[in-house]
Amino acid sequence: MNDLLKLASTEVDPVRLVVRSGTVLATFDHHSQDSGNVSWLVRTDHGDLFVKTAGTPGPQPPDVSMPYLDHGDRVRLLRNAVELSRSCDHPCLARLRNVIDSPSGPMLVYDRAPGELIGTASADRDDPQTAYQRLAHLPSDGLIPVFDDLLDLHRTLAQEGWVAGDLNDGCLILDFSTGRLTVIDLDSYHRGASINVMGRMFGSTRFMAPEEFELAAPIDERTTVFTLGRLAWHFGTRLTEQAEQFCGPDPLRVVLEQALEVEPDKRFDSVADFAAAWRAARR
Ligand SMILES: Nc1ncnc2c1ncn2[C@@H]1O[C@H](COP(=O)(O)OP(=O)(O)OP(=O)(O)O)[C@@H](O)[C@H]1O
Ligand SMILES: [Mg+2]
Repeated sequence: MNDLLKLASTEVDPVRLVVRSGTVLATFDHHSQDSGNVSWLVRTDHGDLFVKTAGTPGPQPPDVSMPYLDHGDRVRLLRNAVELSRSCDHPCLARLRNVIDSPSGPMLVYDRAPGELIGTASADRDDPQTAYQRLAHLPSDGLIPVFDDLLDLHRTLAQEGWVAGDLNDGCLILDFSTGRLTVIDLDSYHRGASINVMGRMFGSTRFMAPEEFELAAPIDERTTVFTLGRLAWHFGTRLTEQAEQFCGPDPLRVVLEQALEVEPDKRFDSVADFAAAWRAARR
């Protein structure tokens, strides 16, 4: 068995353990992410794995801007992601295969999700080759099922109390050949309702609910409803944000418009209610 799948703890530095356990296909660090985390895609005898760490504590190299969260807070988010994975089993989650305690915090070992990341740097969003554009221009019988899956995952997560945080197009990996969706990077999800203590919370403005910009506002399932609605609206209108361009039938558009009400009270009360209305409108 590969060390990455077997060890519960190690005295070895994560990068050394990764390098000796397989072939590194990609590294995700301050060059590509702003989280401060360091992760790798690794080819092993037991398949391709995604290994995520909080990076190293202490000062960053001089060319690196300081991440918003310090190492301790990044470790807390990774432990939160472990709790989420262990609480919920759904085909749209990348399977967490192992967690290894290392000298610089936990190493989360996931199965590699098949397909392509939908999130694209803003400079490239007009490029028709990107997964971002290709998702938005799928035929509706390819596009709407992606949102069936996204909603079903969040219905299941909400049953366990999870409220979405920082859910955006960079969390979606789609295998265009099979239609299989995997949702990644759920580290900032919060178990239970909470209060906005940040003002502007973490997230991509395009998909955030009004209460995520408002200090002391309640953050709850209705916030999840809004963000899911935004994702479905953004791609379902084929990036135009225009109701006339919506790819689905009218009743489905009406359901989304309710999910996108500015006032949380006017949205669906729960992700389950939203998902049920969505399914009814699909028929
Ligand atoms: N299970 C997975 N399978 C394949 N690739 C993955 C997987 N999880 C993440 N990735 C890739 O690794 C990248 C970094 O992962 P992730 O977004 O979880 O890191 P992060 O440190 O939280 O970064 P961010 O600054 O985007 O929040 C993703 O954008 C995606 O391309
Ligand atoms: Mg992240």
